[in-house]
Amino acid sequence: MRKKVTVVGAGNVGATVAHRLADKQLADLVVIDILEGVPQGKALDLLESGPIEGYDVRIKGTNDYADTANSDVVVMTAGFPRKPGMSRDDLLKKNYDVVKGTIEKVAKVSPEAILIIVTNPLDAMAQTALKVSCFSKNRVIGMAGVLDTARYRTFIAEALNVSVQNVQGFVLGGHGDTMVPVPRYTTVAGIPVGELMPKEKLDAIIDRTRKGGAEIVNYLKTGSAFYAPSAAVVEMIEAIFNDRKKILPCTAYLEGE
Ligand code: APR
Repeated sequence: MRKKVTVVGAGNVGATVAHRLADKQLADLVVIDILEGVPQGKALDLLESGPIEGYDVRIKGTNDYADTANSDVVVMTAGFPRKPGMSRDDLLKKNYDVVKGTIEKVAKVSPEAILIIVTNPLDAMAQTALKVSCFSKNRVIGMAGVLDTARYRTFIAEALNVSVQNVQGFVLGGHGDTMVPVPRYTTVAGIPVGELMPKEKLDAIIDRTRKGGAEIVNYLKTGSAFYAPSAAVVEMIEAIFNDRKKILPCTAYLEGE
């Protein structure tokens, strides 16, 4: 039986998550939004891509939380993205209300789901989702580290002119200026990155990684990144559904671990 994924928020991140999940045939999809017509239209458009792309997952757009019932995974992307000059924390009040309200509704009808939170400010919204859902802490995960690590790996691969697949790294800490790309755990085809580039160059990459989200916001002006964030969400879902035991950096609630 196919799994079921609900994507809350049919905006840039949500619609792109749905697109990527459909392409990989990972689950039947429900896309829900507060806007009437938008999730329906985008879901239908995605569904109609199926004969061309060769997928036959079901995709439904809706404004009714009953349609999201018994989801295996719920991806929370509802809320507001930042604009140039805003930090992720500037979104706190507005997005707290959105996340609280929507998580209450999805948690009620999908009590066994795993929640993947994307809405910013990520760490605070993940904790909000944990509190509001009353789910166990291992079922409420924030998407941050996979994205931050992807940015870090991209910049290193570009600087060394090697495949991104050869670059392994870890970005820990919060999803913001406090994030910590860890050079000690960064290798290129097994070689510590410190042996391959001067410290100043690596420091510049670490700084660019920290500001990676803002770099995109400054280009887009009206919104924030969505291709890499959606790819990160899909990597997490694929790891969960295939029980890959992958080690992916995520936001999680810890009690002394
Ligand atoms: N219920 C359901 N959907 C909502 C609600 C709500 N209460 N409030 C807002 N939304 C929807 C909007 O209607 C919109 O379609 O959330 C969607 C957000 O989409 P975008 O504005 O395109 O934002 P996006 O780029 O997808 O970012 C969403 O993810 O990466 C984070 O910082 C980003 O917090 C932002 C979130």
